[in-house]
Amino acid sequence: MKYDFDIVLDRTKNFAAKYDELGKKFGRDDLIPLWVADMDFKVAQPIIEAIQERAEQGIFGYTSRPSSYFEAIQQWLQKRHGWMTDTQLMIHCPGVVPFLSMFIQSFTEPGDKIIIQSPVYYPFFDVVNSNGRTLVENPLKLVNGHYEMDYEHLEEVAKSGVKLLLLCSPHNPIGRVWKKEELLRLGEICLAHGIRVIADEIHSDLVFSGHKHIPFAMISEEFRKNTFTCIAPSKTFNLAGLQASIAIFPNAKDLDKFDQVLGDLDIRRNNCFSLVATEAAYRYGEEWLEQVKEYIEGNFAFIQDYCKKNLPQIQPNFPEGTYLVWIDCRELGMNKDELHSFMINEVGIAMDDGFWFGDTYSGYMRLNAACPRSIIAEALHKWKNALEKIENQ
Ligand SMILES: Cc1ncc(COP(=O)(O)O)c(C=O)c1O
Repeated sequence: MKYDFDIVLDRTKNFAAKYDELGKKFGRDDLIPLWVADMDFKVAQPIIEAIQERAEQGIFGYTSRPSSYFEAIQQWLQKRHGWMTDTQLMIHCPGVVPFLSMFIQSFTEPGDKIIIQSPVYYPFFDVVNSNGRTLVENPLKLVNGHYEMDYEHLEEVAKSGVKLLLLCSPHNPIGRVWKKEELLRLGEICLAHGIRVIADEIHSDLVFSGHKHIPFAMISEEFRKNTFTCIAPSKTFNLAGLQASIAIFPNAKDLDKFDQVLGDLDIRRNNCFSLVATEAAYRYGEEWLEQVKEYIEGNFAFIQDYCKKNLPQIQPNFPEGTYLVWIDCRELGMNKDELHSFMINEVGIAMDDGFWFGDTYSGYMRLNAACPRSIIAEALHKWKNALEKIENQ
């Protein structure tokens, strides 16, 4: 089936955080919402049908999980990434961020050091800080406009008794799809210093032309034994509101320990809609995914082209993975508060501020490109007009 991603859907009755929480987050309701990472696209038809069929049953009691659920995930990982996993080592969790937080609470001690690689998805800071662990930043390096890992710095900080590293792969917000050599070098440093790795691979299916996602745990048996991988259908298939993610553990002992944590909170089960939607997504969603990726890549190209011609003052990246465009706005010469206020009050776009991802990134903005192209065109046009207005003052 051919999907049309140009259609602008009305989300006013969709209870969409991206729209309904604009006022709370940005102080105004009249902004074009290009912030929180969900898509403004209708999901794959097989997912809608699976949910409709389940809804038609009209009974929504506690769910059991059929073995076909984890088998569908296993088959997807093997087909898309060449990674053969063990369904016995998979566990459901209501979200990747809840997983990170619960894992930190139960597998590390207060004060333990945890490494993150900034600029990075801001809940990585929160799950470490709010659980009373010690945040250790290993900032990425910008080399000729391209972000790279800083291994010398990682070696240094790794020596200081670190327990865990949160790897973001592909990396939000800078859109890198890490190469095997890069992951290998990082993983070897972690192994050498007894640092366990959580590989947050939630964006792994959203990888664009010329790039390939390498599951971190697939690199070697040693890596697998040291890694806890998180994946989810939520970014790939736009199902964040169903709150289902999957963690793949290295061994049964740690899995049982985590299962007990879920049991104590009584959150072991899927909700009944996430159960059927996840399975339908992984079994029948590929056709939609291929089309949506092509459309999003077209959006990246459109943004590049538009900015080159009309907004040369800002430099958007062309992401290798994720649907999030990292825009270097430093040439605008505005400080943190000025840029924030300019985007909201003069341009009229809500984006994630660079400084959410780390203190030193205040000259950047993150734009969510998973929406109809006409919305992006309107946003960029507003940006151009607002800059012209300043220049003409
Ligand atoms: C790297 C990363 N991890 C996790 C999440 C959120 O996962 P969840 O909604 O399952 O908590 C996001 C959402 O944007 C993300 O970018």
